[in-house]
Amino acid sequence: MKKHTFTGKASIVGLGYYVPPKVVTNHDMEKIVDTTDEWITTRTGIKERRIAEADIASSDLGKEAAMRAIKDAGITPEDIDLIIVATISPDMVFPSTACVLQEKIGAKNASAFDINAACSGFPYALTVASQFVVTGFYKYVLIVAAEALTHLVDWQDRSTCVLFGDGAGAAVVTNCNDGDGLYASYIGSDGGCVDLLKMPAGGSALPATHQTVDERLHYLKMAGNEVFKIAVRTMEKAAREAIAMAGLKVSDVDCLVPHQANMRIIKAVCDRLEIPMEKVFVNVNRYGNMSGASTIVALCEAVEQGVIKKGSVVVIAAFGAGFTWGANLIKW
Ligand code: ACO
Repeated sequence: MKKHTFTGKASIVGLGYYVPPKVVTNHDMEKIVDTTDEWITTRTGIKERRIAEADIASSDLGKEAAMRAIKDAGITPEDIDLIIVATISPDMVFPSTACVLQEKIGAKNASAFDINAACSGFPYALTVASQFVVTGFYKYVLIVAAEALTHLVDWQDRSTCVLFGDGAGAAVVTNCNDGDGLYASYIGSDGGCVDLLKMPAGGSALPATHQTVDERLHYLKMAGNEVFKIAVRTMEKAAREAIAMAGLKVSDVDCLVPHQANMRIIKAVCDRLEIPMEKVFVNVNRYGNMSGASTIVALCEAVEQGVIKKGSVVVIAAFGAGFTWGANLIKW
C-alpha cells in the first residue's frame, strides 16, 4: 500500500464531463432482461443510465470531457504535458487510450499512458498526476476517466447489465502555490480479489477464441454480494485515511463524493463514517455505475451545481475491481 501526503500544491484548475445523450430507463431494461424497475431501484438506487452508441468508444467520450476541462482551465491542448486516461473499457488492448485521445484532441506536446484501477481510476490518476506537478516535472497534467463500459457488459446477464452506464470526466491538474488544493491521497489494492470482478477473456491469459466467445467470457463478470461487502469496508477505510493524513476530522468534511456504484453501498459507507447524507453528492440514480468516470463526473456536477464552493473540504472515495481503493482530500 502506498501513502502520499502533499503540501496543497497540486490543484484542479479545469473540469469537464460528458455523458452520451441516449437515456435507458429501468422500464427500458424490463424489455431487455427479466427485471423490474422496483428491483433495480430498491437494490441499487439506479433509475436510468446513459448508453453510448455502438460506434462510440471510450476515447470519444473522453475527448468531449477533455476539451471541456481544457477550456475551463483556460489553456490549449498544446499546453498539456501529460495525459493520464483511467479506464477499464479501453478502445483496444493496446495502444493506450491515452495515445488515441492525444491524437483526437491535438495534444501534440504531451506524453500519454493509461491507468487500470477500475472504479478507483480517478483517485488513482489524481494521485499519480500530483506526483508530476508537485515535483515540477510537468506543468499541466490532463486526467481523463472515460468508460464505454456498456459495450463490455453481458446484456443477457440481468445481475450486471442493469448496473452500469457510460460517461467521461476530465480534470486539468497543475501546481498552485496558494495553499489550497490536494492535501492528501491514499490508494490501496488487494490482488487476492481478482476473481470477484473481471473480464476473463481477451488478454494474454485467455486470448480470444471461438470458445471464449461462445462462453461469453469477453464480458464483465461479478460476484455482487462479495463485492458489496468489500466495497463498504474499503471506501470507508480510504476516506478515513485521507482525512487523517490531512490532519482533519470526518466532521470537517463539507462534501463527500463517493464512487457511484450503488445507493446502498453509499449509505452504508456514510453510516460507518457518520457523515450525514446532506453532505454526500449522489448521481447514481441518473447514471448508474460509470466505473472510473463515476467520481469525476460527480465532482464536476457538484461544482457545477454549487454544492462544492471555494473553500469546501471535499473527499473523493472509490473502490473497484482488482480490488483497488483510493481517496483524495481537496480543499477547493
Ligand atoms: N432483476 C431482478 N432480479 C435480479 C436481478 C435483476 N436485475 N439481478 C439479480 N436478481 C435476482 C437474483 O437472481 C437473486 O434471485 P434468487 O434469490 O432467486 O437467486 C436475487 O435477485 C438476489 O440477488 P442478489 O445478488 O443476492 O442481490 P443483492 O441484494 O446482493 O443485489 C447487487 C445485487 C445490486 C449486484 C449488489 O450485490 C451490489 O450492488 N453489489 C456491488 C456491486 C458493485 O458495486 N459493483 C461495482 C464494482 S466497481 C467496478 O470496478 C466495476
